[in-house]
Amino acid sequence: MNWPTIRRATAEDLKALVAIETASLPNPWSPDAIAAELRQESAALWLALVQTSSPPAVGYAAFRHLPGEAELLRLAVVPSARRRGLARLLLTAGLTRAARQGAEFCHLEVGADNLAASELYRRFGFRPTGRRANYYPTGEAALLMTKTLDRDL
Ligand SMILES: CC(C)(COP(=O)(O)OP(=O)(O)OC[C@H]1O[C@@H](n2cnc3c(N)ncnc32)[C@H](O)[C@@H]1OP(=O)(O)O)[C@@H](O)C(=O)NCCC(=O)NCCS
Repeated sequence: MNWPTIRRATAEDLKALVAIETASLPNPWSPDAIAAELRQESAALWLALVQTSSPPAVGYAAFRHLPGEAELLRLAVVPSARRRGLARLLLTAGLTRAARQGAEFCHLEVGADNLAASELYRRFGFRPTGRRANYYPTGEAALLMTKTLDRDL
């Protein structure tokens, strides 16, 4: 794999973001929902690109920056590009910006049965803070997780 690039997504990346969502998640956000997120002032979407992949956009993360805290709303890497550290790079980009903007915490929710994502977040320093039963349409519970951000990130 070529060295990946991580950059902020813009409205011009809408198609690429929709393609990543559709390829990666069982309940993808609609194009309208992603377009609305791109327009949100408090949102920051990060795109992972690998120039040798076709298409090059292979993953993305959507953060919200709120006063004193951040929220990770979405994280997805297409199946063919997984386990190469792209989610780690996307998380690092978003968390670094959040910390620099003064966020002390980052919150997220993850399916309790989503072992890949839970393990990623746990290794990243997110700790469980709660659980919501029957949270997803499938009946799966959601695990709430929080990471305290280091201002030196
Ligand atoms: C979860 C997801 C984003 C991980 O993306 P990725 O680019 O493959 O993750 P990385 O390669 O950066 O993995 C970093 C670490 O996370 C953990 N991890 C990632 N995938 C894992 C898996 N399938 N099983 C166990 N641990 C896993 C490992 O600790 C891994 O480090 P290692 O490869 O050195 O062991 C990806 O699997 C995905 O898009 N899944 C579907 C969408 C999803 O569930 N999103 C999260 C919603 S909250």
